[in-house]
Amino acid sequence: MANPFQAIRGMNDILPAESALWQRLEATLRETLAAYGYREIRLPLVEKTELFARSIGEVTDIVEKEMYTFADRNGDSLTLRPEGTAGCVRACIEHGLLHHQTQRLWYAGPMFRYEKPQKGRYRQFHQVGAEAYGMGGPDIDAELICLSARLWRRLGLRDAVLQINSLGSSAARAAYRERLVGYFAARREALDEDSQRRLATNPLRILDSKNPTMRALIAEAPSLLDHLDAESRAHFERLQSLLDAAGVAYEINPRLVRGLDYYCKTVFEWVTDTLGAQGTICAGGRYDGLIEQLGGQPVSGVGFAVGLERLVAMLAAAGQPSAGAPPHVYLIVAGDPAQRAGFALAERLRDELPDLRLQMHCGGGGFKAQFRRADHSGAQIALVLGENEVAAGAVAIKPLRETGEQLTLPQSEVAAYLRAAALERTLTPSNPD
Ligand code: HAM
Repeated sequence: MANPFQAIRGMNDILPAESALWQRLEATLRETLAAYGYREIRLPLVEKTELFARSIGEVTDIVEKEMYTFADRNGDSLTLRPEGTAGCVRACIEHGLLHHQTQRLWYAGPMFRYEKPQKGRYRQFHQVGAEAYGMGGPDIDAELICLSARLWRRLGLRDAVLQINSLGSSAARAAYRERLVGYFAARREALDEDSQRRLATNPLRILDSKNPTMRALIAEAPSLLDHLDAESRAHFERLQSLLDAAGVAYEINPRLVRGLDYYCKTVFEWVTDTLGAQGTICAGGRYDGLIEQLGGQPVSGVGFAVGLERLVAMLAAAGQPSAGAPPHVYLIVAGDPAQRAGFALAERLRDELPDLRLQMHCGGGGFKAQFRRADHSGAQIALVLGENEVAAGAVAIKPLRETGEQLTLPQSEVAAYLRAAALERTLTPSNPD
C-alpha cells in the first residue's frame, strides 16, 4: 500500500545526500555578504496579510492568487511570507533601525507561494535576500549588483546574464502607464486573456508576458526608458557607469518590469538559460516609497533575493559534488566492556582533536558486520576495540583505504597517532559514493 503521508506538492525535503551542497552555497552567501558589510536579520515566517497586500500590491499575482493565508484562532488574517522584503521593512520600522542611519542587512529562509510547481518553481522555496536602507543614490544599487556578480564567481557559475532596467519615479511611471494602456487598448483583440485582465489592473505586467503570440505586440509597445524622468535617467546612467568601472557586464532590458509593485528606478535580474523555463536566479531593485507606505520615515530601500533551489540546480549541473565529508575514523566496539571503553575513548579523542570526524559504531553486531559498516562509511581508518584490546588498555588501528599495516597502540597514544596521520594527509576525506 502506498504511504498515505507524502510531502505537500511543491514542498521538498532536502535529503542528506544534497545537504552538503546547500551548506556550501549558504556558507559562500554568508561569507560574501559579510565581506560587503551586510549583517543578518532573522524574521518571522508569518506576518499580517495586510503587510503583503500593501507592499507587494493588491493586483499582483502573488497577492491575488499565490498567498498561503489563514485566520488564526483570534480571527486575524495571517500569511506565510511569500518573500522577505516586506517583513524586513516592517522589522526595521518597528525597531527604529532606519532613524538617521544606513543599514545593510540580509536574511535567509523559506518563502511560500501557491504557484504551479515545475522544475525550479516550488510552493516552499528558499531565498537569501540582501536589503540596504537610507542610501538613495546609484552607488548602493551598483554595490548590490557587484556583490551578486561576486557570488557567481565564488560559486564557479559562469552562465548568468545581468539584465537591468529603470522603472522611473512613480509619477513618470503613471504617465507611461497611461500611454501603454492607450497602445494596448487600441489592439485589444490581439491581447491574450491574461493580458486583457491586466490591462485594467496592472498593464505594465503585460510587458512581462511569456506568451509567444504576444511577442511582436510587446516589442512594438512604447518603451519605459523613453518616459523616464530626468532624475531617474541620471540615476540609471550613473549606475551603468559604476558597473562599467567595476567590470560587471549587463544588458539593458526595457521590458523588465518585475512582478511586485513596490519597485521604482533600478530593477535587475540575473538570468540563465541552463535551467529551462525558470531561469531567474536573482532579482531585485529599488523601492524608495515602500518604507513610508508601511508607516516609516521617507527612507530609500534597495535589495535583491536569490533563489537557492535554482542555484543548487545550477551547481549540481556544473558537476559540483553534493555529498558531505565522510568520517575520518570509524570506531568498532565488540562486546559490552569494549562499548564502555569505546565511549570513553571516543569522547577523549573528540576533546583532543576538535576537527576529527569520528563515527562510533552503534547498534551492536560482530566484528565482520561492524567492518562492513566501517567500510561503507567512507572512513580512512578503523579503530578496533575488542576484549583483548580493552584488557590491555590498547586499540587496534586498521587502515581501510590503503594497504597500510595494522598496528596496536596504547589508547593514550591514539590522539597523537591521528594527529600525525592528519599531517601526513592520510586523513583527507574521501567520498564514499
Ligand atoms: P522575486 O523575483 O519574487 O523577488 O524572487 C526572487 C527570486 O526568488 C527569484 O529570482 C527566484 O530565483 C526565486 N523564486 C521566486 N519564486 C520562486 C519559486 N516559486 N520557486 C523557486 N524559486 C523562486 C522577491 O522576492 C523580492 N523580495 C526580491 C527583492 C529583495 N527585491 C528587493 N529586495
